[in-house]
Amino acid sequence: MRKPVIAGNWKMNNTIAAATSLINELKPLVADAEAEVVICVPYTAIQKAAELTRGTNIAVGAENVAWADKGAFTGEISAEMLKEVGAEYVIIGHSERRQMFGETDETVNMRTVQALKYSLKPIVCVGETLEEREGGKTETVVKRQTEGAFKGISAAELDNVIIAYEPVWAIGTGKTATSEQANETIKYIRSVVAGLYGKATADKLRIQYGGSMNPSNAAALMAQPDIDGGLIGGASLKAADFSKVVKY
Ligand code: 13P
Repeated sequence: MRKPVIAGNWKMNNTIAAATSLINELKPLVADAEAEVVICVPYTAIQKAAELTRGTNIAVGAENVAWADKGAFTGEISAEMLKEVGAEYVIIGHSERRQMFGETDETVNMRTVQALKYSLKPIVCVGETLEEREGGKTETVVKRQTEGAFKGISAAELDNVIIAYEPVWAIGTGKTATSEQANETIKYIRSVVAGLYGKATADKLRIQYGGSMNPSNAAALMAQPDIDGGLIGGASLKAADFSKVVKY
């Protein structure tokens, strides 16, 4: 049985002050959740978030990690630095990073390897654009992204990995993939993982859906057999909405 995991991706939102109020509001609302709860927050808020959630059922994550240990990488944050301030998870290869900041399958792989080296749990994002979906390329794209992300990573390491399937056309647009569409692609991604690592490993891997997931569509998405959780953007910025998704 795969334990469902609902993760918030705050993106570039919330100062430390705003993060503090949001987390304090969220804590009691999700305290009895059955799903695992993660919030991925801006670098500047990680330490405070970790402090505020210590001893609770909320884990904290970052939104990216450097592929190198240390050195001349201006603007990057290392895995060791993230661990030091209390991050447990890290989002890697989000479509916003792929589209606006030059992230490639290769850099996603390097960052994933690095996260695992420091026992940070990667949430690796894959997903097609609208043009790719309409061109019938969804499977080709998610296969390439999945195989690319896990080069050199062992089956044992995969136990600490989550994949987030986020169709780019559904992110922040209010357009959700139908539950069936989301499940179909996630099932396909699982078959790609099975091709790489075997069925037993693929069956253990948790794969989330992300893209305009909110309190009104979470239950239907989570009812699908291959969907093991959600990566939530907009709806993770309001405690009431996020807690409703967590308790879909
Ligand atoms: P929205 O939930 O705002 O569509 O964002 C999804 C997302 O990108 C999560 O990583």
